[in-house]
Amino acid sequence: MSKSLEGKRALITGAGGGMGQSHAVLMAERGADIVIHDIKADGAEETAEMVRSVGCDASVLVVDIRDVSAFTAAVCDAGPVDILVNNAGVGGARRAIEDINEDVYNQMFEVHVRGTFFATQAVLPSMKKNKDGRIINISSIYAMGGSQLASHYAASKSAISGFTKSWARELAPWRIKVNAVAPGFIVTGMTEGSNPPEKIAEREKLMPLGEFCKPIDISYAVAWLASAETELISGQVISPNAGEVIVGY
Ligand SMILES: NC(=O)c1ccc[n+]([C@@H]2O[C@H](COP(=O)([O-])OP(=O)(O)OC[C@H]3O[C@@H](n4cnc5c(N)ncnc54)[C@H](O)[C@@H]3O)[C@@H](O)[C@H]2O)c1
Repeated sequence: MSKSLEGKRALITGAGGGMGQSHAVLMAERGADIVIHDIKADGAEETAEMVRSVGCDASVLVVDIRDVSAFTAAVCDAGPVDILVNNAGVGGARRAIEDINEDVYNQMFEVHVRGTFFATQAVLPSMKKNKDGRIINISSIYAMGGSQLASHYAASKSAISGFTKSWARELAPWRIKVNAVAPGFIVTGMTEGSNPPEKIAEREKLMPLGEFCKPIDISYAVAWLASAETELISGQVISPNAGEVIVGY
């Protein structure tokens, strides 16, 4: 296994399960120490054990990303990081516009948009001081093509694309590279919670490459965007999606 992230320290939000856990383990295997954030203490501790088992340092922040002052204080207390992966996310039932009430709407924007924004704000002082850094935002194919019955989700992920492109411009003078990974449908707790198994199987048959990407496929893209191989890539959105969504530039 290449040690492309040796000497680096990465903060991954929502790393107590699903794809965030996969990113943490792969980045640790590549040599990075990991700051694991999640609202779920048990999941975060499980990830920390996995990171330590491959010989890297792990610290855990258990805080609701929607509580901006507590979250920001925890990130600042955790100390400087070289890499931030803005991964924490929420899914939920598919809903028509009329069925998206204020609480459901607010949760979507608080976790994805406010969470991504304030996590980034919290890590910037040390990245600017170092004149180096990587910010990897997790978007979605729904930000590229829309989503029937999840417009609040698609819109919140589209905001992340706006941050990615704007921050790539704003932070370039400090050589902070900002990119996004926009996964296609991935089987995780999030999607299993809102789709019956037969629907998931039906949808998988429609993938041009014959199968869904797995969490590790997303982790490969994240780890690559964190590595020295992508020193001059910024403001881009990469979408591992088994060929389901193909867009021009
Ligand atoms: N699964 C998919 O098909 C898919 C596709 C595209 C994008 N994504 C995005 O990928 C990211 C990871 O999703 P996943 O599928 O691994 O889901 P997941 O539910 O397995 O993981 C999300 C993590 O975020 C944490 N989280 C949620 N709300 C939080 C809060 N308020 N404060 C702190 N932590 C919180 C959860 O506890 C969980 O550990 C999300 O941003 C999601 O929107 C997922």
